[in-house]
Amino acid sequence: MVKIGNIELSDFPLLLAPMEDVSDPPFRAVCKENGADLMYTEFVSSEGLIRDAAKSVQKLDIFEYERPVGIQLFGSDVETMGSCAEIASRVNPDLIDINYGCPVKNVACRGAGAALLQDIPKMVKMTESVIKSTHLPVTVKTRLGWDDNTRNIQEVAERLQDIGIKALSIHGRTRVQMYKGAADWSLIAKVKENPRITIPIFGNGDIDTPEKALEYKNTYGVDGIMIGRATIGNPWIFNEIKHYLKTGEKLAPPTMEQRVDVCRRHLEFSIRWKGPVAGVFEMRRHYTNYFKGLEHFKPYRMRLVEAPTFDELDSILKEIANDYTEMVC
Ligand SMILES: Cc1cc2nc3c(=O)[nH]c(=O)nc-3n(C[C@H](O)[C@H](O)[C@H](O)COP(=O)(O)O)c2cc1C
Repeated sequence: MVKIGNIELSDFPLLLAPMEDVSDPPFRAVCKENGADLMYTEFVSSEGLIRDAAKSVQKLDIFEYERPVGIQLFGSDVETMGSCAEIASRVNPDLIDINYGCPVKNVACRGAGAALLQDIPKMVKMTESVIKSTHLPVTVKTRLGWDDNTRNIQEVAERLQDIGIKALSIHGRTRVQMYKGAADWSLIAKVKENPRITIPIFGNGDIDTPEKALEYKNTYGVDGIMIGRATIGNPWIFNEIKHYLKTGEKLAPPTMEQRVDVCRRHLEFSIRWKGPVAGVFEMRRHYTNYFKGLEHFKPYRMRLVEAPTFDELDSILKEIANDYTEMVC
């Protein structure tokens, strides 16, 4: 069993990566139904949250059925991050996660996210500030380092463990790499092999098949895997990986009917969360993901993004299930 503070997870947990504009409550709900063991909110700006900005406050929405769930915070100011940890803790997530990995200019060039990899003393202070401000376990998600000359994840792991973080997720790229090239898990393995390190180490980067998950589990010895992009339009990947790790056999790919069912669940959760108008609207960006690669799908997509109500969408989804019934994706 893997433990994060008092949170008990399975032997080799599969984590849904925090993803802006993706890992919102409806998407987390379908990931949970399809095997995710631990999930995170999209990152929440501490600058936004401290000003009570609606976009940031909304990201604090969490639901009982998705536990354990962590709220991820990012920011550049040590005190503000502490205050926001306190605010986020009031909605009672299972843990608070700090983002020290975001590479995008708007974040990293303003001293937040991966920028902290260039200033470890400040990263330590910020982490202490968050830990002091919450009764919940604090975890961190970060990258190997800023660039190839500063791959300082070993030092980061030791220093953050020493001040009390309860788990570390490592994306096997540097900030400068952004998302380019293959993720390098060998340094993640080194962190895990360090006898000083006792907290769970979760590997992240490029896991997109059950075979790869097994290979990386065996090769790099991590405590669990965090999966991001491969879950988009494909949330059953969690169960597929679990089944493969357990039996060595691959599950049959979802039938079109199953694919449509998960898409419909996503839509239902979206409407439950946002109401019938915004819920339908927000779901529009997901249809292409669920039906990737289907021939002659464009007319259906057009209808899906124009239909205004659940009932209309439901009947289009039924048509899709019927018309593509022979196809396995
Ligand atoms: C659309 C998108 C949004 C992301 N948003 C966040 C975020 O809010 N917080 C974070 O720590 N990482 C974020 N990431 C990075 C992912 O959590 C993950 O580290 C990265 O995608 C690599 O994992 P993967 O190869 O399994 O996708 C985002 C990635 C994508 C593609």
